[in-house]
Amino acid sequence: MTGPEAPGPELRRRYTAADLGVFTPEEARRFVPQGNGDPHHDVVLAWELLYRLEPELYDRLAGAERLHPGVVGWLPCDVDRIAEVGAGTGRLTLELIGRGRHVVAVEPARPLRRILERKLAAAEHGDRARVVPGFFDQLPLPSCFADLVVACSAFTPSAGHGGEAGLAEMERVCRPGGCVAIIWPNHLS
Ligand SMILES: C[S@@+](CC[C@H](N)C(=O)[O-])C[C@H]1O[C@@H](n2cnc3c(N)ncnc32)[C@H](O)[C@@H]1O
Repeated sequence: MTGPEAPGPELRRRYTAADLGVFTPEEARRFVPQGNGDPHHDVVLAWELLYRLEPELYDRLAGAERLHPGVVGWLPCDVDRIAEVGAGTGRLTLELIGRGRHVVAVEPARPLRRILERKLAAAEHGDRARVVPGFFDQLPLPSCFADLVVACSAFTPSAGHGGEAGLAEMERVCRPGGCVAIIWPNHLS
């Protein structure tokens, strides 16, 4: 339900092209590259609008779909540094602070960053994580920075949501011998 591939007639009807003004120029370049997107026909765009216009509603939806413990358990544990891309409101981030000494959560949508910061401030070991703005294709992190670079329900093959450039960036940020993990809890295809 919280991924861009989720069916969403209600979500598509929720916003109109008039709402696209909420995007920063950097966001618009990625999410509306032709400048004429229509959320009525593009559910991925509707999700991006939801993150920015009704972040608390998005957080409630994400909270209803917990990650399977087996997915989290598969990730490397007891590592030094973890980078998460597209962290949202922290569904995975809050699990990661128990698995690494330092976690950097990269999230482009400012309203979601605020919610994540609030949750981390209230969480045990929340001070292990910092939240920064950024995109898959331009990660604000040095090369070989992290032992684990992970994205959950965020990376897709499309250029605006990762693509080849995003994968190359995740690999750049990962140290040699580290792990790049892309999690997509549903729609295995
Ligand atoms: C479905 S949410 C998943 C959030 C979180 N990872 C989770 O599993 O709950 C997708 C997230 O990817 C982020 N995102 C979308 N495009 C992105 C991009 N180009 N670079 C980085 N993050 C992006 C969105 O802002 C949103 O927070």
